[in-house]
Amino acid sequence: MNIAIASDHAGVDLKEKIIKLLDGMSIKVDDLGTDNKDPVDYPDYGIRVAEAVSDGKAGRGILICGTGIGMSIVANKFPGVRAALCYDTFTAKISRLHNDSNVLVLGERVLDYKLALDIVKIWLKTDFEGGRHTRRVEKINEIEERLMKQREAK
Ligand code: RB5
Repeated sequence: MNIAIASDHAGVDLKEKIIKLLDGMSIKVDDLGTDNKDPVDYPDYGIRVAEAVSDGKAGRGILICGTGIGMSIVANKFPGVRAALCYDTFTAKISRLHNDSNVLVLGERVLDYKLALDIVKIWLKTDFEGGRHTRRVEKINEIEERLMKQREAK
């Protein structure tokens, strides 16, 4: 599985730490920016990861901004993306088990680094539980398909 990762200026330090962690786990990671602390607009970087996951170019994605809120709003606009903003290991684990989250979103300004890296580790190693949760995820897919058809018909 390859992972696409991006952040805005408020998430670059955590992004670097996550890339080191992924390298150490021999996971292929595509760093889609930003690469310094000059202010940028988080949608420009959220789009890169969300498109990669939506188009199937990346198996999963990780996005970081100050709070994680902006990046999660952006990522969840894209078909097939289930972005989960996680502030602890419990929500990270459940987002995989129940929601089959394929983009993990973190806020560098609200997490200490150890907790953030623990969240990444548990999110990576937890599989989707399937069963009744498959039906629920399929309902999300149906909503996306219905909305797309409605837009095409206009
Ligand atoms: C940047 O200052 C900040 O607004 C951004 O990183 C993020 O927290 C947005 O949701």
